[in-house]
Amino acid sequence: MKNIYLNIFRFNNNSISKAINVLRKNSIVGLPTETVYGLAGNAYSKKSINKIYSTKGRPKKNPLIVHYLNINNAKEDVKFNKDFFILYKKFCPGPITFILKKKRNSKIQPKVTSGLKTVAIRFPKHKVMKTILKKLNFPLAIPSANQSSGISPVTAIDVAEEFAEKIKIIVDGGKSKIGIESTVIDLTGKLKILRPGAISASEISKILKKKVKIITRSKLIKAPGMLKKHYSPNIPMKLNQKNSPKNHAFIVFGKEFKKNQNIFNLSKKSSLNEAASNLYKIFRKIKKLKYKKINVVRIPNKDIGIAINDRLKHAEEKRR
Ligand code: TXA
Ligand code: MG
Repeated sequence: MKNIYLNIFRFNNNSISKAINVLRKNSIVGLPTETVYGLAGNAYSKKSINKIYSTKGRPKKNPLIVHYLNINNAKEDVKFNKDFFILYKKFCPGPITFILKKKRNSKIQPKVTSGLKTVAIRFPKHKVMKTILKKLNFPLAIPSANQSSGISPVTAIDVAEEFAEKIKIIVDGGKSKIGIESTVIDLTGKLKILRPGAISASEISKILKKKVKIITRSKLIKAPGMLKKHYSPNIPMKLNQKNSPKNHAFIVFGKEFKKNQNIFNLSKKSSLNEAASNLYKIFRKIKKLKYKKINVVRIPNKDIGIAINDRLKHAEEKRR
């Protein structure tokens, strides 16, 4: 698609220094990560955090993830533990977010954590993120760059479509490779996955040699990503369907589905990773085409398929 947005800048030295200037002034920028695009601001600045919440229309009680270059930069803000060190070594930088206890003298703005004593931290892998974090002397609070309760963006154009001129700079770092948000794991007590992602509970469990619980349906909304409103195209959706009428969008997986106008294939070669990276792109496409109903085939519930099914269930429940 042609870029008609004047606030999108290709990743180069020039766009990086522009973004850094804006961040140092405690304003906000759109940045790519390996999971989804985010809306970034100084995690130590009240002004930038207020801007993030108001630009997204995000409820104040939904806390943000703080992004760091590496473990060294995070040590003043959070209390590490054994499990964290093991997972950090294995998966970071990468698509995993850790909930840990916040240090009392941490400079993180209380609004970032919605007043909680815990904080979510992540070490992103994307080159743009690493380049920018290296040059800053503060970490970045970065929620996904979509209007609250909408579909997470996976390209710079998606971000521009969400916010128009409300943000001055969006750095274009290509399509987000993974395509769905990071795994969120609570390390403050018994291990709990609050949001499934590319790194699965079974991988984590194997490495830590401990049981890991996945709490996606909990009524106790500890990660408000669990609110039914999330990750949704806001169109009635039915899961586990074998077929679909032609006037409804049909999201499929695998080569047995013939090409048709209403058919959107997550992965012809039945790759769950490819399906994850196509999911939000397809949600957006279906929304633009103004379909009134969506049917979805069964997606294998293993590896990143667990995260795909989690997002689909949220989208289904919202409009049931
Ligand atoms: O992949 C990602 O994590 C992306 C990219 C941009 O890094 N970010 C992202 O942020 O998905 P956001 O704000 O859309 O989702 C953050 C999730 C929310 O479900 C939030 O409730 C949860 O993390 N969270 C943040 N702090 C928390 C805390 N202290 N305790 C429990 N959950 C927390
Ligand atoms: Mg989000």
